[in-house]
Amino acid sequence: MKVIVFVGSPNRKGHTMALVDEFVKHVAGEVEIINVFDELRVKPCIDCGYCRKKPGCSIKDGFSGILDRIQAADAYVIASPMWFGTITGPLLSFFSRLQTISCGLIFRKDTVSNWDKAGVFIMTTGSKWHSMAKSVETTVEFVFSHLDAGIVDFIYASKTDVLPAKQNRQALTRCEMAAKRLNQWYADKQEGKFYKYLYHSANYLNVEENTMKENQHA
Ligand SMILES: Cc1cc2nc3c(=O)[nH]c(=O)nc-3n(C[C@H](O)[C@H](O)[C@H](O)COP(=O)(O)O)c2cc1C
Repeated sequence: MKVIVFVGSPNRKGHTMALVDEFVKHVAGEVEIINVFDELRVKPCIDCGYCRKKPGCSIKDGFSGILDRIQAADAYVIASPMWFGTITGPLLSFFSRLQTISCGLIFRKDTVSNWDKAGVFIMTTGSKWHSMAKSVETTVEFVFSHLDAGIVDFIYASKTDVLPAKQNRQALTRCEMAAKRLNQWYADKQEGKFYKYLYHSANYLNVEENTMKENQHA
């Protein structure tokens, strides 16, 4: 299994990385960690319309080299601190470039969405308040839908201001459990068993059509 971890924290030894490290420890497969915050320097989509007609992107930067690797991966982890209620800006810029996949589906009709991949979301937050995760989960569901990925889990370590993520036993255990669930999902897929049981947002494009196909597969 090939897993790509998109990290949106500037802190290499911070709270988010503590959870990523725990998750990676339990994953059976090849893991590539990409620090989107300061390694890639990817610009946001400029809505130039290029990808409505052609695959790829008109902007030539760190994203171009990575698109093939993204499409070849089996699973994705988005790992970010919460900034102003959502994932960090560099991750949002980076993910806006996935518009080329969406345009493949809608305009070029050269890609299909069949929820063949898996995704895990890891987030750390300084504080905690009622329904703080709502807006970020909508964004993350949207990103995973562009990556063709059903969701294994959303994992949070909250109140890192008072409880460091590396001491948050609940969050660390959830990282371990999510990694094991991901391993099982991949094993099911490899063995030709039914594997389209992961959660995905019912609001996304083509979902009805795909849900019908999935059930036929069963
Ligand atoms: C610019 C900025 C914005 C932040 N916004 C939020 C926020 O909206 N909600 C929250 O709970 N914590 C917020 N925090 C705190 C971080 O989410 C928290 O410290 C996080 O655990 C840091 O993770 P890291 O060590 O991986 O960078 C913010 C921190 C920064 C620097």
